[in-house]
Amino acid sequence: MALVFEPKFLDDIRDAIPLRSVIGRRTKLERSGNQWKACCPFHGEKTPSFHIYDDHFHCYGCGVHGDIFSFVMQSEGLSFPEAVAALAAEAGLDMPKPDAGAVERSEESTRLRDILSEAAQFYRKALTGNAARHARAYLRERGLTQATIDHFGLGWADADHGALVSHLKKSGHNERDIFKAGLLRTEKGGAAFFSRIIFPIHDRRGAVISFGGRAMGQAQPKYVNGTETPLFSKKRTLYNLHNARQAVLKDKKDLLVVEGYMDVIALSQAGFTAGVAPLGTAVTAEQIDLMWRESSSPIICLDGDAAGSRASLRVAELALPMLRADRTLRFCRLPQGEDPDSLIKNHGPNAMKDVLARSHSLHDEIFMLLRQGCDGRVPEQRAALRQRLDAAAEKISDKTLGYEYRRSWRDKVFESFRSAPSPGRARTKNLASRTIDLPVNSVVQQGNAARLDILTEILLRHPALLDDVEQAYSTLDLPPDLALLREGLLEFHAERRHLSGETSTSPIAWFESEGEAQEAMARCAQFGRALLDKYDARARSRRDNDDSLLVINAPERWWHFYGLVNFPAFSQEVRKDVAAALSDATLKTFPDALKARLTVLERLKAGEPPDDI
Ligand code: UTP
Ligand code: MN
Repeated sequence: MALVFEPKFLDDIRDAIPLRSVIGRRTKLERSGNQWKACCPFHGEKTPSFHIYDDHFHCYGCGVHGDIFSFVMQSEGLSFPEAVAALAAEAGLDMPKPDAGAVERSEESTRLRDILSEAAQFYRKALTGNAARHARAYLRERGLTQATIDHFGLGWADADHGALVSHLKKSGHNERDIFKAGLLRTEKGGAAFFSRIIFPIHDRRGAVISFGGRAMGQAQPKYVNGTETPLFSKKRTLYNLHNARQAVLKDKKDLLVVEGYMDVIALSQAGFTAGVAPLGTAVTAEQIDLMWRESSSPIICLDGDAAGSRASLRVAELALPMLRADRTLRFCRLPQGEDPDSLIKNHGPNAMKDVLARSHSLHDEIFMLLRQGCDGRVPEQRAALRQRLDAAAEKISDKTLGYEYRRSWRDKVFESFRSAPSPGRARTKNLASRTIDLPVNSVVQQGNAARLDILTEILLRHPALLDDVEQAYSTLDLPPDLALLREGLLEFHAERRHLSGETSTSPIAWFESEGEAQEAMARCAQFGRALLDKYDARARSRRDNDDSLLVINAPERWWHFYGLVNFPAFSQEVRKDVAAALSDATLKTFPDALKARLTVLERLKAGEPPDDI
């Protein structure tokens, strides 16, 4: 029995082994832009005219041309099945057993392809007929030129259900195949497309595999897409990929991902020829993979509304696990209420160009989407944002890249915090600009200022305490310098959790090393050191003349000063947590942190012990 290979098996081999690597064994490759060329291994030459494209090669010297299989056949003198076998072995794929099923499927797929290509011609011709006058007018009214209509092979499916089927039957096809090709709703039923403008859908090599149809006027649904068939899988197909990949390869166009058929077409007519679209479903992982085969950074251009933002976030999250240093995505924002088609129609191609010029990285996109609704001035919200960004970075399977993403997201949170006017800073500004309006309780604030210093000082010496106090510490209203230092400490704390094993570094040492790249961190190092020096000096002078100094352990000291800063809130928090602990049957004893807070609360209520300021 003749061995027939299924197209999918051959594609798997193509995917597994880059053509470039096979050719590179025979002849030395040179990079030329983002393509490769070489001296032709089939005819003697000194200057390279043998060009390697994504999945085929061409020699402009001797005209030899082919794909990975013909290269191996010609360079090693093998037959086609032998070349397939050799490459399959190299790719680690099992050769398919010669079975009757494979032959049948291959023959069927040839028949279905014929049917679809004939149907495409039939629909195309129908668009030129008398009955399609209003369809032509509609397309003209939407701004499509005849050249565009031809380029995309647009057609018209008549209201007559039987017309296409009887045409196909006349050329020898049977109803079962016509149904299997996706052109009938049921084997004996009506046409899948009628009274609709037809958009042929191609595979990446340019063969018609299905259709989409748009109703005229307000008829619903607006679009219907072909059903799943042996040739057509919605989630593995992108509309216009066959044209787009050529435009990327030959004309260096950006691969653009848009929402719909009409967007792809309007873009193409305006010169953005590398547009693709999913087919009435959200973008899938398989489609992202397809994009990456053509471009290392496709640009996602979804609509500028809330739904578009959600869709963008979905695409971004889907892409995360598959990211690599050489495979990423870019994103752009369309103006509210516009899609690429309407933008070009209303504001011209330059408006689209501007949108694309402002496209940004996946990294920035996720940051912007997750930051939405987060008030950068509120520490808890920043902590929550950090957690969400960490979780996103966690999804990146490439660990080095994941680490880079996490790091620079943290820097961004940090940076955006610095530019957000903090409440403390706003107050300082008021004081400077209007010398009146001194805070009424300035005495209390004076005392508190020192307490806030101490709270920070303790954490600089005992950063592990942050495990218990992070929440409370985050809620404090701190003056600008201490607030910056707190950001640094929280950053350090989060970093420590990730870098287990390197926990011996002190926060100051860490700020110093980070400070080389980040000016704000350098400032943290500076303030932090000054703060520690101040308290070191005090402790020394006190020890000299008083060794009965009250030594309280670090957690208790911290909660003590926290309680002094805002006693009512502290006592309420502790009481609430005690009540919660008491009602929790699984708890045998109070957690240590709660015990420390309770001790402090009792002590504060009984009368303040010497305030260690
Ligand atoms: P839109 O509703 O955004 O339409 O659908 P559009 O692309 O702007 O179309 P025009 O400009 O009104 O002609 C975007 C895509 O969603 C799918 C189609 O693939 C469409 O291109 N869709 C939409 C459906 O599959 N069914 C529908 O009923 C509507
Ligand atoms: Mn539209």
